[in-house]
Amino acid sequence: MNKTYNWAILGCGKIAEKFASDLKLLTNANLYATASRSLDKARRFADEFGFQKSYGSYEEMVADEAVDIIYIATPHTYHCKHTLLSLEYGKAVLCEKAFAINEKEVQEMIAASKKHNAFLMEAFWTRFLPRFRKVLEVIESKELGELKLIQSDFMFYAPFDPESRLYNLKLGGGSLLDIGIYPVFNALMTLGVPKNIEANAELSPTGSDEFLTMVFEYEEGKKAYLKSGFTCDSFNDTVFHFDGGAIRVSRELNDPIFIIKRKEVQNYETQSYAINDGDGFGYQFEAAHVMECLDKGLIESPVLPNSFSVELIQLLDEVRKKIKVAYPNHGEEF
Ligand SMILES: NC(=O)c1ccc[n+]([C@@H]2O[C@H](COP(=O)([O-])OP(=O)(O)OC[C@H]3O[C@@H](n4cnc5c(N)ncnc54)[C@H](OP(=O)(O)O)[C@@H]3O)[C@@H](O)[C@H]2O)c1
Repeated sequence: MNKTYNWAILGCGKIAEKFASDLKLLTNANLYATASRSLDKARRFADEFGFQKSYGSYEEMVADEAVDIIYIATPHTYHCKHTLLSLEYGKAVLCEKAFAINEKEVQEMIAASKKHNAFLMEAFWTRFLPRFRKVLEVIESKELGELKLIQSDFMFYAPFDPESRLYNLKLGGGSLLDIGIYPVFNALMTLGVPKNIEANAELSPTGSDEFLTMVFEYEEGKKAYLKSGFTCDSFNDTVFHFDGGAIRVSRELNDPIFIIKRKEVQNYETQSYAINDGDGFGYQFEAAHVMECLDKGLIESPVLPNSFSVELIQLLDEVRKKIKVAYPNHGEEF
């Protein structure tokens, strides 16, 4: 019988609600504590989802000896600070994407995980979804031949608000770090590190990227065409193009995956795979994985190692340099 872990939520915002609701699906997850900058808010959150304790400061909660795992759900600009705080107390950390603002911060977090011998993983939840695992399986099997091209978008309309986390540079504003990270992740996970990157962005009045196109180029002419933005909506599909077929994956959980396999030129066999991504919002899979790692005494995930998160943030840094989006509060100036 596996151990039951005491989970704690640091920052009671929108994503924390979905994550907490998914934690309830896991029998070895005990909903233990919540922390907010406001005690009232922490209490309301705890009552709604059934956590035992609530704290009006993040520092107080991380000092609670009974806390095993801290899920960090604050804006990106605070991820490094809150991760370092949690690791210092020896807590296991699952930190939301983007892991931090830039590579320097991610390296600091990884060094702290090693120093304190405490688990650390980026909450890249899509890596653990059954639909993404199926895509990787098909790519690895080579049943559709060689992967040549990826088209991947993540866009939704978000009206301009200079104070919101999506637009305010002091909160890590910009489409790349918030949602463009998903298409970049899809490309990195399947085609690897590109040899060349092109990126073009439209900037909002705060200087954050509100619409972004990226082209990643690889050896043998392989390419990834990626988009993110807050200026319009999209189906947010990803299409993987092979020299023997294609896979189309919707972002909507539980939608089927479509696969076409070429039998001869312009003659395709079409398959649709019904994928069961479970009952929740999809965050239960990453949370379950963290506990599996802890059961094994690991301080990083073999499925989503921190070296992958370093490659990911390096790509994000490179794209931001090209589109000249810097976070001055983090010592950046491009
Ligand atoms: N995995 C996913 O699918 C997914 C989806 C959405 C967002 N995210 C990530 O999760 C993180 C949070 O996003 P969210 O949409 O949940 O944001 P949100 O609703 O604004 O919540 C962020 C929380 O952070 C805390 N916080 C601490 N300092 C803050 C400050 N100066 N300004 C604003 N909030 C502050 C607040 O909690 P208290 O008031 O309780 O202290 C706030 O509720 C982001 O990094 C984002 O990329 C991930």
